[in-house]
Amino acid sequence: MSRGQFPATRMRRNRMKAFSRRMFAETRLSVDDLIWPLFVIEGDDRSEAVTAMPGVMRHSIDRLVSAAGEAVRLNIPAIAIFPSIDASLKDNDGTLARDGDNLVCRAVRAVKAAHPGLGVICDVALDPFTDHGHDGILVEGEIVNDATVAVLCEQAVHQAHAGCDIIAPSDMMDGRVAAIREALDDAGHENVQIMSYAAKYASGFYGPFRDAVRAGSLAGSDGKSTYQMNPANSDEAIHEIALDLAEGADSIIVKPGLPYLDILFRAKSEFGVPCVAYQVSGEYAMILAAGAKGWIDTDRAMMESLASFKRAGADAILTYFAPKVAQMLAGETPKDQANDQAGDQAGDQAGDQAKDQANNAT
Ligand code: PBG
Repeated sequence: MSRGQFPATRMRRNRMKAFSRRMFAETRLSVDDLIWPLFVIEGDDRSEAVTAMPGVMRHSIDRLVSAAGEAVRLNIPAIAIFPSIDASLKDNDGTLARDGDNLVCRAVRAVKAAHPGLGVICDVALDPFTDHGHDGILVEGEIVNDATVAVLCEQAVHQAHAGCDIIAPSDMMDGRVAAIREALDDAGHENVQIMSYAAKYASGFYGPFRDAVRAGSLAGSDGKSTYQMNPANSDEAIHEIALDLAEGADSIIVKPGLPYLDILFRAKSEFGVPCVAYQVSGEYAMILAAGAKGWIDTDRAMMESLASFKRAGADAILTYFAPKVAQMLAGETPKDQANDQAGDQAGDQAGDQAKDQANNAT
C-alpha cells in the first residue's frame, strides 16, 4: 500500500484535536467488555480486605449479592465468583469441591436468585479446597491428572446445578474440557458455556490472589509449573488453545494479561474465537502500588492497560478494576474502590503532582 510522504502527510493532523482523536480511535473499551472477579467468604454481613489488593474485599454471601447488584446497576455483563475457604475445611483431595452445598455453590444460588440476568462464571480447579494449595490432587509429590479431572467434572456439574452460566476450568489438567463438556451434557447442562483458561502460565503475578483465596504461597515447591505453562513459550499456547477448542471450549482465556499480550494477539488472529484476557491480581497490585507512591497515574495506567487488551484482540477482560472502570465509563465519580481508601489519598496527590510534572515536561 502506498502512503504519502512528509510534508503532504502529517500524522499529527489527525491527532491535533480531541474530536479527531476520539473519532479515529481504532478500539474502544466498553462496559460490555468487563468481567468482575469477586471473592466470597462464610458468614453474614461481613467483609475482609485483601491486603495486597487495595479496594478488593472478600464478602459474605449477602454482601456478595449486593456487589452483584452493583454490577447489574453498572451494566457489567458478568461476575466471576471465587471462594475463600476456611483452612479447617481443606484437605489433600479438595473434597469440598464435590459438595453441591459448598460456599461457591451457595453463593451462586444466592446471586442468581437476586440477579438472574447477571452472568455468573465459576472457576473449576481444586486450589480453593486443597490444603496444599495446588489445583489438583497430590499423590507422592505429583499432581495426578486423570483422578483430578474426575473431581473437576463433579465440581463443574455442582456449579451448573447451582445456576452458574459459564464454567471456567483454570486447573490446566489435560483433557478436562472434553470431560467437563460430557459431564455437563449428561447432567442436562448442554447450554452451560465453558470458558477455558487454555493458555494459563506459571506466573509470579498470582501472588495477591492466592492470599485472597487463602491458597498459600506454595513456598518451597516448584509452584504450579508441572501443569501451568512455561512463560518462555508461545507455540505451546496455540497448541493448548487448539486442543481446548477441539474439546468444546466456547471461549478461551489468556492469563496473565499484560505480560502475555503477544499470546492474546496470536490467539485472536489464529483462531478468531471469543478471547478473554485476565488482568490478574499482581497486575492490579502493581498499578495501585506505583500509583499510591505517586510514581504513575493510577487511572491512566489502568485505562491504558485495558485499552491494550482490546488492541491485542480481547473480547472481554477479567479485571478487579471492573466496577471503577464501569463507573468512569458511565461518567460517574468512582466510589469505594482503591482510590477512596484513606491511605491512598496522599498517593493521589503525589500522582497529580507527577502528572503536572509530566505535562510541564511536554
Ligand atoms: C486458581 C486460579 C488462580 C487465579 C485464578 N484462578 C491462581 C493460581 O492459578 O494459582 C489467579 C487470578 C489472579 O491472580 O488474579 N486456579
